[in-house]
Amino acid sequence: MGDTTKNTAAGLAAAAASDIDEITGHRRMRRTRVADWSRRLVRETRLTVDDLIWPIFLVPGTNLSEPIDAMPGVNRMSVDKAVEAARMAADLGIPALATFPNVEMEKRDQTGSHALDPENLINQATRAIKQAVPNIGVITDVALDPFTDHGHDGILRDGEIVNDETVRAIAAAAVHQADAGADIISPSDMMDGRIGAIRRALDAAGHHNVAIMSYATKFASACYGPYREAIGTSGLLKGDKRTYYLDPSNAMEAVRDAGLDVEEGADMLMVKPGLPYLDICRALKDTYGLPTFAYQVSGEYSMIKAGHAAGYIDGERIMMEKLLAFKRAGCDGILTYFAPEAARLIAKGGG
Ligand code: PBG
Repeated sequence: MGDTTKNTAAGLAAAAASDIDEITGHRRMRRTRVADWSRRLVRETRLTVDDLIWPIFLVPGTNLSEPIDAMPGVNRMSVDKAVEAARMAADLGIPALATFPNVEMEKRDQTGSHALDPENLINQATRAIKQAVPNIGVITDVALDPFTDHGHDGILRDGEIVNDETVRAIAAAAVHQADAGADIISPSDMMDGRIGAIRRALDAAGHHNVAIMSYATKFASACYGPYREAIGTSGLLKGDKRTYYLDPSNAMEAVRDAGLDVEEGADMLMVKPGLPYLDICRALKDTYGLPTFAYQVSGEYSMIKAGHAAGYIDGERIMMEKLLAFKRAGCDGILTYFAPEAARLIAKGGG
């Protein structure tokens, strides 16, 4: 560079550029970020409609679609309305639903015995949905919390959630759910030995093709509050679930716990809640290589809705960014109350 150009603007710019080239060794990360076409070309993960599982809430009755205060935009639906919702979801291309019932208080008891009624609300809904919309997957939960009068996921005896008796009950409930047409049984109770017991019970009943998606690592989280309102357990729950859910501090234990579920025959794994536990999603995917899902739970949903309603955040962009984060962390799919909203946005080419 000649002395004559040194003090001109062009000379300074050239000098600066060469300094930076020296620093970067001519490697420039921004080259691939320069335009929409190049960003699309190098994009590593994408969210598609095939990644979405839609959790829905059920209530007894007909023609009911009741708003849930703590979950803006989410309704509890009677079975006929749930069938309509299933059809809408199938039309959007959503692969599967997960159902959660809000059963009458008088049907709830100490042992959650109504879980074993082949005609209970979950099983009615499964039958109706599978009959009307056979091409959507139905995932059912066998935890006892919608059926107990204390809101715990298991049978309560002398202040303890008893493991083995609960496992026998949920394995029996799983067979009723499979009889009703459930495609995937998804136990969210975190009892020891449940995956193996459910697998044996399903196989003994001839349900070899019914899969198990284990809520392999379910943490004792503060994010479940709105769900408990949705299924009417918030007023019932005494104490907390720390004697059976995982401690949010423990990642190694989470991997060990999921390993037992894999050995016992889980077909798929789930991490719950979702975003605060992305490290666990990645660890499970890398360790076991099974189809791995995250449950973006009610509290995660409602925080986004509330932030948007208050005008603090752009709810739609945050929704898509968070759903994408699960894919980046290795998840094959996400259970999300946003499923229809996200599916519509993806169909329009957004996201
Ligand atoms: C319990 C259960 C929970 C959720 C689904 N099933 C947690 C709980 O109430 O302790 C939470 C789902 C959500 O928050 O969206 N078996």
